[in-house]
Amino acid sequence: MSGELVYLTCRVNGEEVSLHVRPEEIFVDVLRDRLAATGTKVACDLGACGACTIIVNGNPTASCGLFAWQAEGADIQTIEGLANNGNLDPVQRAFVENSAFQCGYCTPGMIMLARALIDRDPAPSRADIRNWMGANICRCTGYEMIIEAVEKAAALQQEACNE
Ligand code: FES
Ligand code: FES
Repeated sequence: MSGELVYLTCRVNGEEVSLHVRPEEIFVDVLRDRLAATGTKVACDLGACGACTIIVNGNPTASCGLFAWQAEGADIQTIEGLANNGNLDPVQRAFVENSAFQCGYCTPGMIMLARALIDRDPAPSRADIRNWMGANICRCTGYEMIIEAVEKAAALQQEACNE
């Protein structure tokens, strides 16, 4: 399918983005190929694994299933936007400190999924974490280290808030 170009404006990691996209263009391709934001990974390309998870208007979203035009006006966060002035986000820190990855291919999506959870619920229960993080697939870790990292991320964030 092809057609007239669509003018897209949105915010990606706080920066205004304006560009023409093809009607069939997928948002993850815009990120990776046109905005050089290659931290977001593609694995299944079917909306099933969560490797490509970004946050769109606060909601974790599989960017391989998002047409670029659907991002019109959206506020988007990707893995590139999490660290602040060189300081890792608590979720990133917790994943590193817990060694919650092996090959790392699922990790950006896992981190964005966890970020969206903690944004909604700063103190999720272990059951809630298990349930929420079950949306994404990891072929390597067996998940336990990921679940523990998300718990730790919530604790690190709480500590930072109390400082
Ligand atoms: S690559 Fe998008 S959900 Fe698997
Ligand atoms: S660390 Fe390899 S897929 Fe998750």
